[in-house]
Amino acid sequence: MAEKQKIASGFARVFGAQPMLPTAAVVSVECDIVKGLHAFTIVGLPDKSVEEAKDRIAAAIKNTEPPIPTSREDGGYESPKRSNKKIVLSLAPAELKKEGAAFDLPLALAFLLASRQVKFDPKGKLFAGELALDGTLRKILGVLSIATAARANGFTELYVPAENAEEASLISGISIHPVTSLEDTITQLQDDLKTKTFDPAMRRAYERDDDIAALDEIRGQESAKRGLVIAAAGAHNLALYGPPGTGKTLLARAAASILPDLSEDEMIEVTTIHSLSGALSGSAIHRPPFRAPHHTSSYAALIGGGSSGIRPGEATLAHRGVLFTDEFPEFHRDVINALREPLEDRVISIARAKGSAVFPANFMLIAALNPCPCGFLGTSRCQCMPHLVEKYRRKISGPVADRIDMWVSVGHIPFETLSTKAKRAAGETERAREHVARARARQRERFKNAKGISTNADMGPKEIESFANLASKAEETLQGAARSMKLSPRGYHRTIKLARTIADLASNDTIEPGHMLEALQYRAREI
Ligand SMILES: Nc1ncnc2c1ncn2[C@@H]1O[C@H](COP(=O)(O)OP(=O)(O)OP(=O)(O)O)[C@@H](O)[C@H]1O
Ligand SMILES: [Mg+2]
Repeated sequence: MAEKQKIASGFARVFGAQPMLPTAAVVSVECDIVKGLHAFTIVGLPDKSVEEAKDRIAAAIKNTEPPIPTSREDGGYESPKRSNKKIVLSLAPAELKKEGAAFDLPLALAFLLASRQVKFDPKGKLFAGELALDGTLRKILGVLSIATAARANGFTELYVPAENAEEASLISGISIHPVTSLEDTITQLQDDLKTKTFDPAMRRAYERDDDIAALDEIRGQESAKRGLVIAAAGAHNLALYGPPGTGKTLLARAAASILPDLSEDEMIEVTTIHSLSGALSGSAIHRPPFRAPHHTSSYAALIGGGSSGIRPGEATLAHRGVLFTDEFPEFHRDVINALREPLEDRVISIARAKGSAVFPANFMLIAALNPCPCGFLGTSRCQCMPHLVEKYRRKISGPVADRIDMWVSVGHIPFETLSTKAKRAAGETERAREHVARARARQRERFKNAKGISTNADMGPKEIESFANLASKAEETLQGAARSMKLSPRGYHRTIKLARTIADLASNDTIEPGHMLEALQYRAREI
């Protein structure tokens, strides 16, 4: 039997990263091997994941074939569990919460490097990947956030599981090395001729998926459709209310189909978020997301956080798209109230063990609701007790309702309109899309020098002052109405922003009284 190879003492440092929003945190992965009684410890990981990481790394190392055979009988590398040295692996900074298994690959490499079983220069390289027991690499979550952080921190090479390479390649200016296993990684690191890089030109082309609910399929409801177009054009919050079965849910779903494609920067932002949550299908998101959390959703599911404070919630997953809350009053009061922050500041603060994190959450809210618990308020069919109607109303008024710019009533349509023989408005979705796109282009032009603002809804009081361009007659109209409607100062500002969008849809640089009147009409509601 061949003599067991003894691992050498030594020290090595390689780099990994913790996926996080908006970008990952670079983590220094160190290994120190000294003479002494056998010990194998990992520090800097949360307790419960240490043992798992140890087992995976040790097995993966043992089961990996070195390109040059060692003297060991089973041919593998010397595992840290079997050595006669004191081995410490450390992830720094220690206080950073770490989650997931993306550190397996850098941990294994740090050990192999420190024990002088492999040789390569770790400078400028960042590693991420989960190891299976046989040494193959598994896909990880949040690769895009890692690629962004790697580039920002001056790394030039990123080694990721092959399945993640296409996603990582969305970030330019850093070479992406797809690796399939620990063995493959070592081979590529030690033999320049075998190094592979992912060519961004190999990214799959984006094909528009038109299989989404479209406006064409909804009969009648012309004023609600007009409301949808306005809301989509300026990213305004919208509530659709009316009796059951009138098409509210259909309309809300169609809203996503008339929004323009995401810009390049938005695509990276949105893909980063979805990649981190594991909700990414395909390699990049080019369409505004449409998220429809159920009304029984928990606070954490909607807002995000989780035990380690890095999971995005529905409000963040809806970033740059639509958050659709169907049956709005059925949501838990705390959940409704938690929407106050993102609806005002377009971000969400998540409490973490140390300090807090801020997640992006710039979505347009579409709420669908019935006017009372039974849905038939104002008709003879309504059976609700007055105090229940009152309770229901209280739930849909207050600070969150004040942030909803448009209240659109969706009533019954004549049955003739629904008839299968009735002529359908062909190309309606396409027309609405173009209409919205034109209004969005005007906004992009207007805000091209205003940082962080891309739609009328994004405007703060300062931008309203410089960009709204309100005709004095329109301002008089607003002031008169604001007094009689008892608008809040917020409502006042929001109405100007909405009127700005209505003027943009009419390709008008000035907000005229007509635009203001239409905006005001959406602010008024009958429930
Ligand atoms: N305007 C419409 N055009 C075509 N179909 C419609 C329309 N309105 C309703 N429908 C039909 O009624 C069904 C229910 O519509 P939807 O779910 O949108 O109603 P809702 O207003 O959300 O009702 P609820 O208040 O009960 O949630 C649709 O699946 C569709 O078959
Ligand atoms: Mg519905």
